[in-house]
Amino acid sequence: MSIREILEKLPIVPLVQADDPQIAVEVSRALAAGGLTVSEVVFRTDRALECLRAVAKEVPEMTPGAGTVLSAEQAVQAINSGAKFVVSPGLDEGVVTTCQKADIPVFPGIYTPSDIQRAYNLGLDVVKFFPASIAGGVPALKALAGVFRSMRFMPTGGISATNLADFLALPSVLACGGSWLTPKSAIAEGKYQTITQLAQEAIVIAQRAKGVKQ
Ligand code: 3PG
Repeated sequence: MSIREILEKLPIVPLVQADDPQIAVEVSRALAAGGLTVSEVVFRTDRALECLRAVAKEVPEMTPGAGTVLSAEQAVQAINSGAKFVVSPGLDEGVVTTCQKADIPVFPGIYTPSDIQRAYNLGLDVVKFFPASIAGGVPALKALAGVFRSMRFMPTGGISATNLADFLALPSVLACGGSWLTPKSAIAEGKYQTITQLAQEAIVIAQRAKGVKQ
């Protein structure tokens, strides 16, 4: 199944941020136990590449992507380390074309109509809307989707269990991403069950928002 097909069914992309591969593995297992099988391992720690490699190798039930990918070089490293998709906070042509050449889905961040138009002209039909809550939230997305009719959006930044349904109710939203599913406090205390519960809760919210029968 393509990443897009998986997200059509389960439109949530939790962030995994760790500086220890074993923790990245535990967090990913906890998410998968809760039913979330796509995650974004973010390149925000010195050992992020190792974390991605460990998740790709040791958690077969997880489809890992790489997040916070800032350069074409990092995109190559991510792909070589098992990333099945690549996410960036902004739109960088080098990152996009590197992924396109490797046939790896890439979701660059956009904030303005000009960003979306550049993404459109790079042949993309899914972009990350970041930071969603500050960039205008649901009303902004509605306005943007009215213009860019073929574009699907992945709002990220300020998403939580309280506003997830509002975003997912928009037909233009493919999925929502965020760190609310993997709280630093739960990870620090080794409370992986909390992550599993948050994943389960998010799935219920998503199914309701998308009108899926439970
Ligand atoms: C990201 O990298 O996508 C954002 O930092 C996620 O934002 P959040 O922490 O508000 O979910």
